[in-house]
Amino acid sequence: MMKTDRITLRPWLDTDAKTLYQYASDPEVGPRAGWPPHRSEEESLEFIHTVFNNPTTWAIVWNETGEPIGAMGYGPSCDCSLPAREGEPTVGYWIAKPYWGQGICTEALQLMIEHIRQTTHIKSLISGHFIDNPASGRVMEKCGFIPTGETAFDSKLYRGAGKPISVLRLTIQ
Ligand SMILES: CC(C)(COP(=O)(O)OP(=O)(O)OC[C@H]1O[C@@H](n2cnc3c(N)ncnc32)[C@H](O)[C@@H]1OP(=O)(O)O)[C@@H](O)C(=O)NCCC(=O)NCCS
Repeated sequence: MMKTDRITLRPWLDTDAKTLYQYASDPEVGPRAGWPPHRSEEESLEFIHTVFNNPTTWAIVWNETGEPIGAMGYGPSCDCSLPAREGEPTVGYWIAKPYWGQGICTEALQLMIEHIRQTTHIKSLISGHFIDNPASGRVMEKCGFIPTGETAFDSKLYRGAGKPISVLRLTIQ
C-alpha cells in the first residue's frame, strides 16, 4: 500500500464495483484512454476480477471518503503498439472526472514511480496518450517522462484506429 495525505494506492476489492461502475461508465473517461465505458456494475466487478487483479494495478483511493476514484498501474502486456524496449513495462491510469485538475493523477503516478524505484530493478517505463488528450501527457511530463518523438498508430484500442499516439519514456535512476 502506498499513501499520501490525500490518496492511497491499494489493490482493488470486490466492494469497489459499485463506485467503479459509477465513474468508469462516464463516456468522458475510458475512451480517452482507449477503453469503452463500463456498461454495468457486473462488468465492473468482472474487471476487478480480471484486468485489475494483479500485483501492479491499484485503486487510487480518496482518503477522506475511502472511495476508489481511479486506477494506476504498470505491466508487461501492451496491446497498444507502443515501441517498448525488451521487458519495458507500460504505465496506465485514469481518474474519475469529478476529481480532474487537482493534481491527483500526478501524485498517484509519483507514488507508483517511487514504489517501483524502491522495490524493483526496472530501468525505464513507457507510456503513450492520444494526441487529443494532452492532459495525460502533462501528467507524465510532470513526473519526469520525456517525449520520445515517436508516434505509434494504434489499431486495437477502443476508438483508437488510426489515431496518433504521443509516446513518452521515464528513465529510472
Ligand atoms: C488524464 C487524467 C488522468 C489527468 O488526471 P488529473 O488528476 O486531472 O491530472 P493532474 O491534475 O495531475 O494533471 C493534469 C495536467 O494536465 C493539464 N491539462 C488539463 N487539460 C489540459 C489540456 N486540454 N491541454 C493541456 N494540458 C491540460 C492540467 O493543467 C495539469 O497540468 P498543470 O499541473 O501543469 O496545470 C484524467 O483527465 C483522466 O483520467 N482522463 C481520462 C482517462 C485518461 O486520459 N487516461 C490516460 C490515458 S493515456
